[in-house]
Amino acid sequence: KEVKLWGGRFEDSVTDAVEKFTESISFDKDLYRHDIMGSRAHACMLAHQGLITEDDRTSILKGLDEIEGQIERGEFVWRTDREDVHMNIEAALTDLVGEPAKKLHTARSRNDQVCTDFRLWCRDAIDNIVLRVKHLQAALLKLALKNEGVIVPGYTHLQRAQPVLLQHLILAYVEQLERDAGRLLDCRERMNVCPLGACALAGTGLPIDRFMTSEALGFVAPMRNSIDAVSDRDFVLEFLSANSITAIHLSRLGEEWVLWASEEFGFLTPSDSVSTGSSIMPQKKNPDPMELVRGKSARVIGDLVSLLVLCKGLPHAYNRDLQEDKEPVFDSVKTIVGMLEVSAEFAQNITFNHERIQKALPAGHLDATTLADYLVKKGIPFRTSHDIVGRSVALCVTRNIQLSDLSLDELRSISPSFDEDVYAFLGVENAIKNFSSYGSTGSECVSSQLAYWVDKLIVS
Ligand code: ARG
Repeated sequence: KEVKLWGGRFEDSVTDAVEKFTESISFDKDLYRHDIMGSRAHACMLAHQGLITEDDRTSILKGLDEIEGQIERGEFVWRTDREDVHMNIEAALTDLVGEPAKKLHTARSRNDQVCTDFRLWCRDAIDNIVLRVKHLQAALLKLALKNEGVIVPGYTHLQRAQPVLLQHLILAYVEQLERDAGRLLDCRERMNVCPLGACALAGTGLPIDRFMTSEALGFVAPMRNSIDAVSDRDFVLEFLSANSITAIHLSRLGEEWVLWASEEFGFLTPSDSVSTGSSIMPQKKNPDPMELVRGKSARVIGDLVSLLVLCKGLPHAYNRDLQEDKEPVFDSVKTIVGMLEVSAEFAQNITFNHERIQKALPAGHLDATTLADYLVKKGIPFRTSHDIVGRSVALCVTRNIQLSDLSLDELRSISPSFDEDVYAFLGVENAIKNFSSYGSTGSECVSSQLAYWVDKLIVS
């Protein structure tokens, strides 16, 4: 058995069970690119500070290039007995270039190394996720543009509430996603500081330049406190919180589309390309991708909860428990990326059934609130007008008719404030025309929302 990099004080080697239990190479090899990036910056800094020679640096950099190439070509052999990505790469570098490689770990610990790698990895992951959020927003915007003027029932408590423009509803998702991207970018900004050089926890007496490595790696600054630098995992907690909120938004969207695709609603039809069938029921066509978007949000939340529980009760500074931080993050990122991608594809492959929606509109007295506002315009206090319209609706319910079916005499028998002009406020089309407040579902308001997003998201 090869002697461990940390093997100096040990007489016995670890048991196979311990080796298998403590390894992280099976998953942390995903950090290889960022680990090599960190090592390059560290080697250059060490040489600049005179802690290693220029020749050492040159050999290290050449060796790292070679190792990166081997990994990318799939030729690199990852060894469980070398524990993790950091020691695999360092040991392989030593095999490759010898003595100079043994100087690379000067003024560095795996504790600062791992969280440097992880921050770099998460930074890239956030950029990727934000890009996909933008793609989904663009897909939703296109969907909105395809459905101009379509009125749908708006719901509260999943009961018919007021008519809204379909475009308005779709743009509500776009707004949510904008905040999701904003949260991720905020988190990126806060995580963009460099732990490298914090060493194990206390820093070092060697003359390193932490500002130099920080800058080389694109961080804004080195972290101020070496103990915090190796202990902090709130950057990932924040990241997975942001992912969880995004996942919840996608889950709500999924739920809505699944519901709307049902025979009972029938408001939308997904194309075959985004539907799946049943192994027993020949007639079935299911909106599985959006059901799974809803389902996978559970994983993303679970990943966050795992990480929260992991960090709870950890004393400062580094603890091996923290090795458990990677898999939830990798899983969360992979899952949210898939959810965003599939939601965008789904958005590009659904048709809203205008006729079916149109047929559904008369039910549910969607114009009742507009009618109450009409009476307010006539000088009636809102509470009174609410009551008058409530009684008008009750009358309709007993006769199974709509508010617009009531004659003026019938309306006047409930309140003398009704006039001939009332019919310009009844029916969903009229109700929509009546909306005018900023952010409302009125056509002009929705048009300006659309214009805002078209400008912002550049639809191709
Ligand atoms: N594989 C470890 C992790 O992911 C690297 C740090 C190990 N440090 C240590 N002192 N054992 O956290």
